[in-house]
Amino acid sequence: MTTKIALITGANKGIGLETARRLGELGMTVLVGARDEQRGLAAEAALRDGGADARFVRLDVTDQASIEEAAAWIDREFGRLDVLVNNAGTATVSRQRALASATSLDDMRAVYEVNVFGVVAVTNAMLPLLRRAAAARIVNVSSEVGSIGSQSDPASPLHDLPASAQYPSSKAAVNMLTAMYAKELKDTPIKVNAANPGFTDTDFNDHRGVRSVEDGAEPSVHLATLPDDGPSGILWGHLWLREGDGGYGVLPW
Ligand SMILES: NC(=O)c1ccc[n+]([C@@H]2O[C@H](COP(=O)([O-])OP(=O)(O)OC[C@H]3O[C@@H](n4cnc5c(N)ncnc54)[C@H](OP(=O)(O)O)[C@@H]3O)[C@@H](O)[C@H]2O)c1
Repeated sequence: MTTKIALITGANKGIGLETARRLGELGMTVLVGARDEQRGLAAEAALRDGGADARFVRLDVTDQASIEEAAAWIDREFGRLDVLVNNAGTATVSRQRALASATSLDDMRAVYEVNVFGVVAVTNAMLPLLRRAAAARIVNVSSEVGSIGSQSDPASPLHDLPASAQYPSSKAAVNMLTAMYAKELKDTPIKVNAANPGFTDTDFNDHRGVRSVEDGAEPSVHLATLPDDGPSGILWGHLWLREGDGGYGVLPW
């Protein structure tokens, strides 16, 4: 069987690193996308120590030149890409979390550069390689806070939770992008889905998250390894309910 090639953006830590570890464990060659060489090489070494065939690739999702260089390198080395996990993300660049009425446009633009434009830039650069794979999978790491259905449902715990505008709206955009790419690629073997890790213990939320990274990476791994009759164009992951674990499955957009 041919070894699958998987690229994970923002793979030097957190959910991305764990996703890379899990896909490596499944026998894939994992391309560790990281914007910082030292952090990327450290992650590559840790993954290799764990037995994975990991290769660092410098990739800043806001830097078109680095995206194109990464795509050209993958083309030269492997000639195709089987899995793309658009995992890199940020909640705020200024680290000043504010309600919608006090949104910093500078911060919002910076968040969109990573979470939204980064997804489009990386996906479009990698699509020629993904089309060359037998049945590629694209996973966009989203969030339940980007679900308009959950945010506006009085029965959802998200309804009463104060939140900034930039992060939830950026993930709502990721959800729509997922639907649009799935629609465009519906007559190909490529599946495009969005993953919700749930509130996960990482640097992202200063480790206030309640889920382990193993749990948080599970939806990305699930969607990256979907069988040929699996879905395309869904939001999948951990449900956040008021009580208990919340369950796992298809989430409302
Ligand atoms: N943790 C949660 O509760 C939670 C819940 C729902 C969704 N998510 C989503 O899950 C994904 C991973 O989050 P996480 O919790 O693992 O966060 P994390 O530990 O903060 O990791 C974020 C990763 O994204 C990378 N990154 C940021 N900007 C980048 C850029 N311009 N180019 C390339 N990489 C960049 C970071 O690299 P550096 O180390 O260089 O900064 C890091 O590797 C994000 O999309 C996030 O929105 C997280």
